[in-house]
Amino acid sequence: MNTLSKLGIKSPVGLTGRTGRGSKATDLATLLATKRLIVVCGSGGVGKTTTSAAMAIAAAQAGRKVLVLTIDPARRLAASLGLSELDNDPRRVDPALFQARDLPMKGELWAMMLDTKRSFDDAVRRHAPRPEVAQRVLDNTIYQQISDALSGTQEYMAMEQLSELTRDNTYDLLVVDTPPTQHALDFLDSPDRMIGVLDSGVLKKVFGGAAKAGKSYFGWLRRSTKVVASLFERVTGGEFFTDMVEFFSAFDELYEAMRNSSKRVKALLKGKDAAFILVTSPQPSHMQEANYFLSRIDSYGVSLGGFIVNRVHSLADGTIPAGDAAPVPDRMVRSLRASVPALQANQQLEPLMQSLYSAWQRYAAMAQQDATQIAQLEARTRVWVKQVPYFEADIHDLSGLDKLNGYLFSDSRSAATERAGS
Ligand SMILES: Nc1ncnc2c1ncn2[C@@H]1O[C@H](COP(=O)(O)OP(=O)(O)OP(=O)(O)O)[C@@H](O)[C@H]1O
Ligand SMILES: [Mg+2]
Repeated sequence: MNTLSKLGIKSPVGLTGRTGRGSKATDLATLLATKRLIVVCGSGGVGKTTTSAAMAIAAAQAGRKVLVLTIDPARRLAASLGLSELDNDPRRVDPALFQARDLPMKGELWAMMLDTKRSFDDAVRRHAPRPEVAQRVLDNTIYQQISDALSGTQEYMAMEQLSELTRDNTYDLLVVDTPPTQHALDFLDSPDRMIGVLDSGVLKKVFGGAAKAGKSYFGWLRRSTKVVASLFERVTGGEFFTDMVEFFSAFDELYEAMRNSSKRVKALLKGKDAAFILVTSPQPSHMQEANYFLSRIDSYGVSLGGFIVNRVHSLADGTIPAGDAAPVPDRMVRSLRASVPALQANQQLEPLMQSLYSAWQRYAAMAQQDATQIAQLEARTRVWVKQVPYFEADIHDLSGLDKLNGYLFSDSRSAATERAGS
């Protein structure tokens, strides 16, 4: 029996994750037990950070050494994982936190927050051929501006971290939360985008020019543009132009290393050890995004693990009561008046029941719409689709994450219980 099945999570034998068309797909528990990299994508605010933390916990509980790379986690969630603000170093989540809540923990859970600015600085230090080149870039005001403002920097830095964290085998599994992007595929595009930026456009012209003209190019440019620069500086009131020339000159030496790093990450994401999980809400606009993701993912050559539909409105037993069982206000008022004499003359009862009934109808309609959206997604995909309900409160602590895991692993936990009972 492997560690996952001891926890009641399905073992790698019998890969029977919930599938749309009845074909087989690797179940979530199996992915967490066998992969080395799980990338959690999805539109903004759907629950990527929360589900990443929950899945990392499940894998660590089962015995793996897991690092979850989170991005902008809610303060309370970060605190419950023992992370302080803007902490770019992996930290082990204290096993005592699990013990205190009676939660098993057979492996190790490590967590870190992505600090984009520090990651960019670290990448510059890593890729610079000499420390003084790194320092020139880091001290440059243009660099200081763009490292914060460059669009897609966060995705690129998450990729950079990934490249660095997978260089050795410190962790059995890395669960990577992704930055809030407009489209879930933006993260997947980011190595290509970075390679594109490095290969073309203004950077290439400057770098290409530098390469052709030799290293003296920038010295020449610096000298020949002194007059222009001083004019420019008089207008801009700063050392912008000189800084820019200096920046491109210093950055030139990092170019090749950054390019190779982007390529390495791309290969990593396409490798057999990686799987992507898409988190979505059942809201039609998010589902549309999920369907788009599904239609495009094959062209990226990466492996889609499955879908998590988070914040699902669901009725207790999955059905809407009809006929005599329908919670019609008149009937409810009659039955309340019959059983509670003090309510017999109460005039507020009708409007109260009416508004309760309207709220219930709205909720039931949402539940129906969610069920339809999920069924459509299931019909389109061969991978599993997990559902997590809309909880009454935010999920910000280990107990909440464990509750969420109850839904992510419900099939396997109940299967294990059935096995145990038979
Ligand atoms: N099933 C759920 N029920 C109720 N609240 C939830 C559920 N899932 C997540 N939340 C809450 O929703 C909020 C957003 O979740 P989370 O931060 O995980 O989303 P995200 O996709 O990472 O967002 P962003 O794109 O901004 O990074 C959090 O406060 C979280 O506690
Ligand atoms: Mg997030």
